[in-house]
Amino acid sequence: MQKRDSQIVKTLLSEHDLREGVDRLSRQIAEQWGSRPMTIIGVLTGCVVFLADLIRRLDVPLRVHLVQASSYRAGTTRGDLTVAVDLRAEIQGQDVLLVDDIFDTGHTLVEVLAELKKYQPASIRTAVLLFKEGRQEVEFEPEFIAFRIPNQFVVGYGLDYRDDFRHLPYLAILEPEDLRDRPADESGADG
Ligand code: IMP
Ligand code: MG
Repeated sequence: MQKRDSQIVKTLLSEHDLREGVDRLSRQIAEQWGSRPMTIIGVLTGCVVFLADLIRRLDVPLRVHLVQASSYRAGTTRGDLTVAVDLRAEIQGQDVLLVDDIFDTGHTLVEVLAELKKYQPASIRTAVLLFKEGRQEVEFEPEFIAFRIPNQFVVGYGLDYRDDFRHLPYLAILEPEDLRDRPADESGADG
């Protein structure tokens, strides 16, 4: 019998922790941003919960667009990345804030950044909810980070394991034995 979500996961950041962290981050972003209009580009699918909370706390003029960065990963390993985006008109000459759920190896954000820079924004900065310690394989760090977390696989608050668990209102650790327990799906999933 398959275990229920609440039996599988262990809370890492509670709803209260997440609210405080996103509050803190939005104040930091607003202070550094000034009064210039902000063009937010969210990376689907993992950003959706964080993005929804973040934009309601940012008291600056802003617009929101979304891009899909599919890493075609089976479970927890990265595959090839494709960035489906056609936002030239929205990005050219604008001050952009790229928003994603988690900075793990860093390849996804670095590749999305490179794509967006082709559209010649006036400036581009990056905000992530989570930064996973000790995993980075790139020479880049996001300007805005809400939480630094240990190197464990986390789910909830938008983050998934094979498209499960995104709806959990808290952030939880999925234990390695439960990673194996989940139904296999080799078709890959979106970030
Ligand atoms: P990166 O390219 O290795 O930085 O990671 C890219 C994507 O992998 C993130 O945007 C997430 O969608 C996903 N990812 C990385 N670590 C985790 C995790 O612990 N839980 C859920 N998704 C993750
Ligand atoms: Mg993602």
